[in-house]
Amino acid sequence: MSPPRETPTGLPGFRLWPGALDAAAQASLLAEVLATTEAAPFYRPVTPGGRPFSVEMTGMGPLAWVSDRAGYRYQPTHPVTDAPWPPMPQTLLDLWDALTGWPAPPDACLVNLYRGEAKMGLHQDRDEADLTAPVLSVSLGDTAVFRIGPAEGGRTQSLKLASGDVCALTGPARLARHGIDRLLAGSSQLVPGGGRINLTLRRALWRLGDRDSTGG
Ligand code: SIN
Ligand code: FE2
Repeated sequence: MSPPRETPTGLPGFRLWPGALDAAAQASLLAEVLATTEAAPFYRPVTPGGRPFSVEMTGMGPLAWVSDRAGYRYQPTHPVTDAPWPPMPQTLLDLWDALTGWPAPPDACLVNLYRGEAKMGLHQDRDEADLTAPVLSVSLGDTAVFRIGPAEGGRTQSLKLASGDVCALTGPARLARHGIDRLLAGSSQLVPGGGRINLTLRRALWRLGDRDSTGG
């Protein structure tokens, strides 16, 4: 693919490619993701304190992030079916290469499903072994109001992430605090039943040099 247009942001290391995926690419990626959810269905995680998340989750790739009474972690199997996560679509691996240029593939893709009032509180992605590797995020479906601010705290800013937008937390923004305030319900017809699906690609447990010759 030819590299999509990148928009400068006010936060060093936070990279944004509005409309990186056109309508056809969004539809085919969504079809691939929904196909994996037949074997690896969305489930609703709980916090270690037992509170249900408002988003539903599943995963793809060697590992995916889970949360339950035992805590947060990356694991190789789906917490409900106990089966290995389905593989990540090649499209996503190619997108990771094209946009991040990171010299090794992602080993985890978290799939978040937002419907209705679902949101995600401000947090940092810091459960990964290699905090120098980027996190790449793909938005499909309804536009989300995304909030982001520096790792060390202080002012946050909000911006909209629409279907087909891709962003990345890299370098000084790798530990930026971020979350989803709300969806603009009905802003897209892409996701059957409405809502938004967000895919985040990460280097969860592998460090550079580990297993990279397998290509993931
Ligand atoms: C996340 O931080 O895991 C998800 C962010 C998003 O849904 O855009
Ligand atoms: Fe996150």
